[in-house]
Amino acid sequence: MDPKKDTPALDLRSPIAILICTYVLCVLMYSAYASWTASAALEEAQSQIGVIAPAVAETTKADADGEAAIAALKDHPDYLRAAWDPIHFKPAIETATNEQCLACHKEVLTDKPRTSSPAGLKATDSIAWYETLDTYSGEQATFHARHLSTPFAKEVMNLQCNFCHQGHDRREEAPSSSATAATSGFSLRKVIDPSSTCLRCHGKFPGENMGFEKDQKWHDLRNDLESEETPNGCLTCHAEQFRTVRHQVTYLKADEIEKIAKSGSSDSCFGCHGGRAWYRKSFPYPRHSWPGMDTTIPDWAKDRPTTSDARYLKKQ
Ligand code: HEC
Ligand code: HEC
Ligand code: HEC
Ligand code: HEC
Ligand code: HEC
Repeated sequence: MDPKKDTPALDLRSPIAILICTYVLCVLMYSAYASWTASAALEEAQSQIGVIAPAVAETTKADADGEAAIAALKDHPDYLRAAWDPIHFKPAIETATNEQCLACHKEVLTDKPRTSSPAGLKATDSIAWYETLDTYSGEQATFHARHLSTPFAKEVMNLQCNFCHQGHDRREEAPSSSATAATSGFSLRKVIDPSSTCLRCHGKFPGENMGFEKDQKWHDLRNDLESEETPNGCLTCHAEQFRTVRHQVTYLKADEIEKIAKSGSSDSCFGCHGGRAWYRKSFPYPRHSWPGMDTTIPDWAKDRPTTSDARYLKKQ
């Protein structure tokens, strides 16, 4: 008798062995797939906001942040723990990077709006007037994409997730409804505070502070202020005369804004100062002193700060 035949080694053709092998193979394939989808999708989202160029393999700080953020996700075995991750709240949210947020929320940059409404109206046929301007490019995009990854957004702004998301209250949707909610400073049913964010760029044209009549519209005013030599009517007054010290904040690209404004039309300036006015009031901008400024302060400017919010000051 052959002694080898008597060893109780697992016969690879036995049903149990086949089951075990299939299981191991499945686990391996799934884990490879899971890590591939997470990092591929994160890279797509990051490259859209210019954190990394597409298909660039070199390791950057953002890559490292992104990988560390993905690795940290292992600490979240379930949905609730992720939803209540301290990164959503102060103080952690103040120093959170886009990469950290995108590790869980890549969909805010990768989702696309519908190409047509359920009733059949095509997105390409329903265009707002500002979407007809030279500053607007590409197909209809989501709100987040229009502020983080579209060409114009990337040219003039440098918004971070935590510029708008400053920590909301997941439990209380209404402020002042309990002792703890009272001091939280958030707005009703909003995860962000519009008056310290949106209003900066989507307020009413502050014409009355410029000496125009209260309800004069820029559309009418610009005819007399723009010519072929001076295509941007805002710069007729704002190139050298008034408020020439502006936009020195971390979330705007001051030099790019002036470059675009010089080569283009007033649409680029007006776009953030009345052209997309979702509000009936304007933001009370700080009033920086500028070379040649008159030292008497006009009445409307008596309560204005003279420097930008400390939170957004550029490091010198
Ligand atoms: C560990 C994963 C994880 C990280 C990191 C993370 N989030 Fe979340 N977040 C979640 C989950 C899960 C939810 C709940 C989603 C839901 O209910 O639809 C959530 C919800 C939200 C909501 C909606 C809250 C609501 O009440 O409707 C916002 C806004 C948000 N996150 C922003 C952020 C921002 C900004 C960052 C970075 C500072 C961030 N998140 C980082 C997992 C994460
Ligand atoms: C320009 C301001 C702004 C910026 C920048 C911004 N968000 Fe938002 N985000 C909003 C607003 C406004 C909402 C909707 C809030 C509401 O419904 O009250 C929102 C909603 C969300 C939600 C809830 C789910 C949804 O889609 O409605 C998530 C998650 C989120 N943002 C994540 C992010 C992440 C991650 C970043 C950075 C990559 C980011 N946001 C950057 C303003 C912003
Ligand atoms: C720093 C300036 C800035 C801030 C802050 C800002 N926006 Fe915008 N917003 C813009 C610019 C610039 C565009 C045009 C982007 C483009 O044409 O690609 C825009 C476009 C939009 C659009 C039009 C999108 C489209 O597809 O046509 C909406 C809606 C909007 N913003 C809402 C908001 C809301 C709500 C907030 C606050 C949560 C906000 N914005 C904060 C500058 C800003
Ligand atoms: C006829 C000259 C003139 C034109 C044209 C003009 N402005 Fe002004 N602008 C002023 C004056 C004057 C002030 C106030 C200066 C001061 O602070 O004393 C001002 C102030 C402003 C302010 C600050 C308002 C505030 O409340 O602090 C903004 C923003 C502004 N202008 C943007 C624009 C934009 C954008 C355009 C073009 C769409 C434009 N201006 C066209 C003269 C002009
Ligand atoms: C992407 C949006 C955006 C664009 C484009 C833009 N602005 Fe502004 N502007 C802002 C924001 C936000 C502030 C407030 C910055 C701060 O808090 O210091 C501001 C501030 C100002 C102020 C107040 C200056 C002061 O004393 O601090 C003036 C004047 C002004 N802008 C004029 C212009 C003109 C003229 C153009 C075109 C050359 C222009 N803006 C283009 C967003 C924009």
